[in-house]
Amino acid sequence: MDRLAELMGPFTAIVDDMPQGAGPSLRFELQAHITWYEEMDRIGSEHFVVMLVDGRNEVAAVCNAHWDARFPDRLFQALTGVTRPWRGKGLAKAMKAAMLELVHTRHLEVQMIITSNAEMNAPILSINQRLGFAVHRCNGQYQLDRQALRDFLAFRATPASPSTNAH
Ligand SMILES: CC(C)(COP(=O)(O)OP(=O)(O)OC[C@H]1O[C@@H](n2cnc3c(N)ncnc32)[C@H](O)[C@@H]1OP(=O)(O)O)[C@@H](O)C(=O)NCCC(=O)NCCS
Repeated sequence: MDRLAELMGPFTAIVDDMPQGAGPSLRFELQAHITWYEEMDRIGSEHFVVMLVDGRNEVAAVCNAHWDARFPDRLFQALTGVTRPWRGKGLAKAMKAAMLELVHTRHLEVQMIITSNAEMNAPILSINQRLGFAVHRCNGQYQLDRQALRDFLAFRATPASPSTNAH
């Protein structure tokens, strides 16, 4: 947890640099990890982190995945990120390969890896497609702002015009 606490800032910088279109900023929080680790202890699950640090011991790249004892044949691949100065050098591919080896040594029962990618994230799609990932299903994120909701409710609140169909 002490080491994780130090990593929340660098991991947040990486995840918040993910191409995802307009939306709220993303962040890593220690409390969320404390709660998640308690749950993993209860279930018997594991969080895998492959990480590269530079000569100043600062995070250059990270790859996260977790294995859930309730679905032992699956691996859930989460954030893979490389800081900007280190991109384009094959580090993401190397970390993903290291992750696969690591998980394979610990969980031979894993048959499938599940991940999700934004359609606009060309670099990670390029890596994942070459690894062999195929689209299973597409989820959309929908947004409704207050003005659009107000307009909708105002329209609904307008009384219907009286019938002119008099006999
Ligand atoms: C995605 C990310 C991890 C890639 O890191 P990286 O170390 O630069 O990746 P690699 O160098 O190992 O490989 C990138 C590959 O994508 C390819 N690529 C890059 N931009 C591309 C584009 N616009 N279209 C197609 N392919 C592209 C590169 O050519 C390279 O493949 P190659 O080495 O065979 O030429 C990095 O861009 C990043 O951290 N982004 C922010 C976080 C993020 O979005 N993570 C992914 C979601 S979990």
